[in-house]
Amino acid sequence: MQATVPAGLDRKETEVYLRLDLKRLPRHIAIIMDGNGRWARRRHLPRVAGHRAGVSSVRSTVETAARVKIPALTLYAFSEENWKKRPRSEVDFLMGLLSRYLKQEVPTLNKNNIRLEYIGRQHELPAEVQQRMEWARQATETNSGMVLTLALNYSARSEIVDAFRSLVDAAARNGGLDHLYVDEESVSRHLYTRHLPDPDLVIRTSGEMRLSNFLLWQLAYAEIYVTPTLWPDFRGVHLLEGIAEYQKRERRYGGLGQVQEHAQEHSHSHHERAGTKPPS
Ligand code: FPP
Repeated sequence: MQATVPAGLDRKETEVYLRLDLKRLPRHIAIIMDGNGRWARRRHLPRVAGHRAGVSSVRSTVETAARVKIPALTLYAFSEENWKKRPRSEVDFLMGLLSRYLKQEVPTLNKNNIRLEYIGRQHELPAEVQQRMEWARQATETNSGMVLTLALNYSARSEIVDAFRSLVDAAARNGGLDHLYVDEESVSRHLYTRHLPDPDLVIRTSGEMRLSNFLLWQLAYAEIYVTPTLWPDFRGVHLLEGIAEYQKRERRYGGLGQVQEHAQEHSHSHHERAGTKPPS
């Protein structure tokens, strides 16, 4: 039986929450927020109206994740490709939206004990946006609850390139390239996400079945949940539905999984008793 429902969940959220196994919550959820443009087009509105509406979805999702005690949430807000390939006016709008969001949201982040972090090539963003980001990061840095990471001007391939450069630089500073040692652990430590565990669950809205250059290294074993809901319609309850779906999956990490392992053991002991050889 569930002991208590966290304060602040609405009726629908509570219904889904009560179905969750609290011992198996994902430690890190990553979200590809997609469909803002389509949401706006369906309403005969300019694309940017979809982005503006998407901010309410960010708020609801972040609050619900923190309330149910998800340790880490990462939102793909802005890819390197978005930054380079979208019209200047849309990019400027998104930058303004982000700045306002950070300014308005810091008190709520503090109230919910959320620490803000960023991944992506921050130094390429406008100076005043970088300043606002740094201000918000510092204002929340002592919070000990959920880590909210915003991917801004982010590309997974650039991240991996930067990790290789950083590995080589570190070796050069520590006695030269003879000291270069590369394994999975050291690559992970040089990624932007060194402060986070790998995501257990990645959610993509608006029905697209792509990773779009998001956390390619870190998502190696993540469960993928794609929902047709467009990002501006996404709310905390949809996050909880994604977690419920995640909990129905069996994670195997390349192994056999519980059902098959059990069958295999059973078959081995059966053959041992019978003195026969199990099929390989
Ligand atoms: C994808 O929709 C969404 C984006 C490129 C931007 C996401 C930004 C927000 C949700 C708001 C700002 C974020 C924060 C953290 C305050 P799309 O435009 O690609 O949609 P489409 O595929 O339907 O055209």
